[in-house]
Amino acid sequence: MRIHGGDRKAKLDFSSNINPLAPPESVYRVLRICLESKVLEMYPDYRYEELRKAISKFYKCDEENVIPTNGAHEAINLAIIALNPKRIVVVEPSYGEYEDLSRTLGIEYTPLLYRRRDNEFYLELEDFEEFCNDRDTLIVVTNPSNPLGIYIDKQVLLNKLSRCRARVLIDEAYTELCSTCPIEIGFSTPENVVIVRSMTKWLGLPGLRLGFLYTSSRELLNRIDILRQPWNVNSLAECLAIEFFNRFENDVKKFIEISRKFIDEERGRVSQELRNLGFKVFRSVTNFILVEIPNGLNVVDMLRREGVAVRSCSSFKGLGPDFIRIAIRKREENDILIKLLREVYRV
Ligand SMILES: Cc1ncc(COP(=O)(O)O)c(C=O)c1O
Repeated sequence: MRIHGGDRKAKLDFSSNINPLAPPESVYRVLRICLESKVLEMYPDYRYEELRKAISKFYKCDEENVIPTNGAHEAINLAIIALNPKRIVVVEPSYGEYEDLSRTLGIEYTPLLYRRRDNEFYLELEDFEEFCNDRDTLIVVTNPSNPLGIYIDKQVLLNKLSRCRARVLIDEAYTELCSTCPIEIGFSTPENVVIVRSMTKWLGLPGLRLGFLYTSSRELLNRIDILRQPWNVNSLAECLAIEFFNRFENDVKKFIEISRKFIDEERGRVSQELRNLGFKVFRSVTNFILVEIPNGLNVVDMLRREGVAVRSCSSFKGLGPDFIRIAIRKREENDILIKLLREVYRV
C-alpha cells in the first residue's frame, strides 16, 4: 500500500511538506489571466517550447535538457522506466515511492542507509563504491533528504557520482525551501545524472501538479519524450509557469528568498521548543524536521484526535515508530502544535 503524508481531513496538517507562505498572491492573479485567455480550451503545446524556455531561463540551464512533468513524481516514474535499470540503490530513509516502484517493476531494490553518529545522520560517500561501477544500477539520492532534512553539498555529491558508470537520480524536490541549496541547475550536469525538481512544494500548488526533470543524456531525453503521454502537463499549469517565470521573475526570486528566511527562523524556533520538551530533534535545512519521540505512534494518534496530522515515520527505512516528521507551518499554527504537545508532556 502506498503511504504518503497529507491528510485532507485534518484541521491542521503538518504531515505534508508544503511551503507555509505559499501560494503567493500573484499565483491567483496569473491563474485568472490564464483562465481568461481560455487555455483550458486548448491542448498544451506538445513540445512545451515556451515552458522549457521559461524554466531554463529561471534555473539557468539548457532548455533542450528540460522535460516538464506532471509533478516531480511523474519525472521519477519516467526516468526509472526509461533508464530500465536492473537494480535501484536508494539512499534511505527516503521518499517511499522509490522502493514501491522498484518492486512493482521487478527491479532489484537495495537500500543504502545513512549512518548515525552522535545522534546525527550522515552519508558516507565511500558507501557508494560498491555500486558505482555497475552500468545497470540506478543510484537515487533525495537531496535535501526527505525525511531527514539533511543536505549533501551538490558539488561534492556530483564529484563523487559523476565518475560512476551507474546512473544517478538526484531528487531535489525541496531545493527552493532550503537556503543552502543552489536553485540554479547550471549547464554542466554530468551525462549519467538526472535531476528531478518539483514546483508543487515551494509554490504551494500540489493540486496543480508541476515539476520537471533535467538530463544532458540525449538518449535518455529521446526515450522519455516517447514514453511520456503527449500532453503530460495540463495547459493551466503550463500557462502559470510560463507567465510566472517570464513576467514575475524578480517576484518569484523574492518569494523564494522570503520563504527560505521564514522557514529557517521558524524551524529554529520550533526545534528549540520541541527540545525543551525533551525530544530529540535532528538538524534540518529545509521545511520539515525529524523528531524522535518515545512512543511516537501514540503521539501521532493523540494529535490526530485533536485534528492535527503529523507524519509517522514507521514506514521509512532505518527509522520506525519512534520517529515523526513535522512540516514547518505558520507561526500561530506551529504554536498550536507545541501547546498540544506541552499539555501531553505537562511541561
Ligand atoms: C522527495 C520527494 N520527491 C518527489 C515528491 C513528489 O512531488 P510532486 O508533488 O511534485 O509530485 C515528493 C512529495 O512528497 C517528495 O517528498
